[in-house]
Amino acid sequence: MTEFDKSQWAKAEFAQGYREEADFYIIERKRLLEILKSFCRCFINNKQGINVLDLGCGDGIITHELLKMNDLLSVTLADGSEDMLHKARERLKGYKNTRFMKVSFQEMIDKNILKQNFDFIVSSLAIHHLTLDEKRALFGNIHSHLNNEGYFLNIDVVLAPTETLEQWYLSLWKEWIVERKTVLGIEGTHHEEIVRRYKDNADDKPDTLDEQLNALRVIGFKDVDCYYKYGIFSMYGGRK
Ligand SMILES: C[S@@+](CC[C@H](N)C(=O)[O-])C[C@H]1O[C@@H](n2cnc3c(N)ncnc32)[C@H](O)[C@@H]1O
Repeated sequence: MTEFDKSQWAKAEFAQGYREEADFYIIERKRLLEILKSFCRCFINNKQGINVLDLGCGDGIITHELLKMNDLLSVTLADGSEDMLHKARERLKGYKNTRFMKVSFQEMIDKNILKQNFDFIVSSLAIHHLTLDEKRALFGNIHSHLNNEGYFLNIDVVLAPTETLEQWYLSLWKEWIVERKTVLGIEGTHHEEIVRRYKDNADDKPDTLDEQLNALRVIGFKDVDCYYKYGIFSMYGGRK
């Protein structure tokens, strides 16, 4: 049994629960996608024959947004979950240059599975499932599979640097959920539970933004920065 198989993501019903609720509880998901697209317009789309890798692709939402902007992209989508890959295949069936890989991040690191380089490696809300050592190893693997001047961008939840800030960031998240419920006319307390579930879930191993930015710098990434942040939700990356 792989590390991935031991996680909740290996269960189809857990993956389905995420797909059903993600739009609702991911803070500023639409804005995150808009910033991602702006990043691509600025740094990626000005080249020809662009190869993209989407790590922990889930149902393919990130790749879909990129393809809506530029359907000439050639995209590899990787995820440990067959169920998620199935949904991604369905979602992207109209696009030709897509390739799907069932692989866990741990296998990717240990077996050096990637056989080509990419111009853009993107990930959303997946890498926080790795320990800090695994994150560092994955970042190294990403760096070695980027073409020169290629970019890595990660949208992810991060650990607050102090307990005081953590309390506030989690309150911010709850406030976001309550506001969304009001706007959408949703009742019940189930959704506030999402924050507690995140904290209690052994599969969630967030590390601080500083640790992750430093890891990227040590590996040799340039232009490393946090490009957006709202509480624990962040977007960061760098250039090879
Ligand atoms: C929260 S979902 C995010 C999906 C999508 N990127 C999005 O933004 O909606 C996390 C995804 O990471 C995948 N994942 C989690 N741990 C993984 C691992 N160790 N190796 C590969 N994929 C993993 C899950 O199967 C799931 O599809």
